Amino acid sequence: METRINLSQKDMPQAWYNALPDLPTPLAPPRDPETKEILTPDKLEPIFAKALIEQEMSSERFIEIPEPVQDIYRLFRPTPLVRAHRLEKAIGSKCRIYYKNESVSPAGSHKTNTSVPQVYYNKREGVKRLSTETGAGQWGTALSFACGMFDMTCTVYMVKVSYEQKPYRKILINAYGGEIFPSPSEQTNAGRAMLAKDPGCKGSLGLAISEAVEDAATHDDTKYTLGSVLNHVLLHQTVVGLETEKQLAMIGEKPDYLVACVGGGSNFGGLVLPFLPRKLKGENITFVAAEPKACPTLTRGSFRYDYGDMARLTPLMKMHTLGHAFMPAPIHAGGLRYHGEAPIVSNLMEEGLVDARAYYQKDCFEAALLFLRTEGFLPAPETSHAIASAIEVAKTAKPGSTVVFLYSGHGMLDLASYDAYLRGDLTNYELPQECIDQALMMCPTIEG
Ligand SMILES: Cc1ncc(COP(=O)(O)O)c(C=O)c1O
Repeated sequence: METRINLSQKDMPQAWYNALPDLPTPLAPPRDPETKEILTPDKLEPIFAKALIEQEMSSERFIEIPEPVQDIYRLFRPTPLVRAHRLEKAIGSKCRIYYKNESVSPAGSHKTNTSVPQVYYNKREGVKRLSTETGAGQWGTALSFACGMFDMTCTVYMVKVSYEQKPYRKILINAYGGEIFPSPSEQTNAGRAMLAKDPGCKGSLGLAISEAVEDAATHDDTKYTLGSVLNHVLLHQTVVGLETEKQLAMIGEKPDYLVACVGGGSNFGGLVLPFLPRKLKGENITFVAAEPKACPTLTRGSFRYDYGDMARLTPLMKMHTLGHAFMPAPIHAGGLRYHGEAPIVSNLMEEGLVDARAYYQKDCFEAALLFLRTEGFLPAPETSHAIASAIEVAKTAKPGSTVVFLYSGHGMLDLASYDAYLRGDLTNYELPQECIDQALMMCPTIEG
């Protein structure tokens, strides 16, 4: 029985899979944040590279991965698919559990799958500097790594609570050559306004996005990049699912359950979207999305138009949201503290194609430690949600089922979070309904 299923580098996917033409219902169009009218692509040009705007709206089913991007992918791809024999044994599973290990990338997570192409296209269009936000620091690290590869400058706004919880992320981002500010910062109007209102504010992804977008919009040589949510980000992440499909085929397996955690939806989308055509043709594959109870965007959010950021600078997207003004509790899975959800994932959810489940952080840490003590690797707190969910699925699924989960990142820079858990200092948060109702009242009302 094989444990690691490795794909040869010559079998690496040559093209990303674009799910847009295969969605059962088309996505609602993005809208202008000021006029609320349907957005024309040129409105995005001040902040995004043209090639990425084209990908955002493309109707091509496959989009070729440029050779310079593949060249960098080859540093860490294909990633292994691993049979979790020891975890299976520990939980008495009658199912086979596999995990696709994206933690082997230089930055430590799946985020490099999109940071590399995003930097490549911006560089090709003459951009000199990129700005972005980061939650737990994985995306900021991935962008800083990719900027280093293409000799570009990188500015990262990191949510303050995570900046304080994970100080080594700052060092790694600096080591790759990027600069980093805790958000809210004094660098932007959005940051200064928040600090004036609440000097102790610990930040949110929505606010850090406002700062990064403002930075790009006010500097001619700078564009903005987003590490999740948008269609082109999910597109780049499909290398994960495309490889998984080949690896499962190599051993004669077919998935019954595909499990991933959801922040903005990019690792989940990357794993499941390549399997969407098979699911739509009637194959019985369940797409399980695991989120925190402290930020239950899919399980308790509303499906409606909302801004992607707190300062209302981004286009309005129709998505599952807890409201752009939502300030999440300081859970350690910083990358899952986002108020919105990828429009593609939200669309699939509305179609009844996603089984979304929410977990307490302490249960996720417990699952992470079980994984560590059986499989040996230390998961990122975000990834621990996928592990908790995969264990739950494997315990309740029909015996003989195949469960595949996405191991989105390692937790080697999240040791302080594990320390807090081991010392018994962590709290479980469940979002009160009044908080959701209050934040949703701030969303715009748009028909359609
Ligand atoms: C390791 C890891 N997994 C998952 C996520 C969630 O993001 P997404 O839903 O875009 O994959 C993050 C986000 O920062 C992350 O760092």
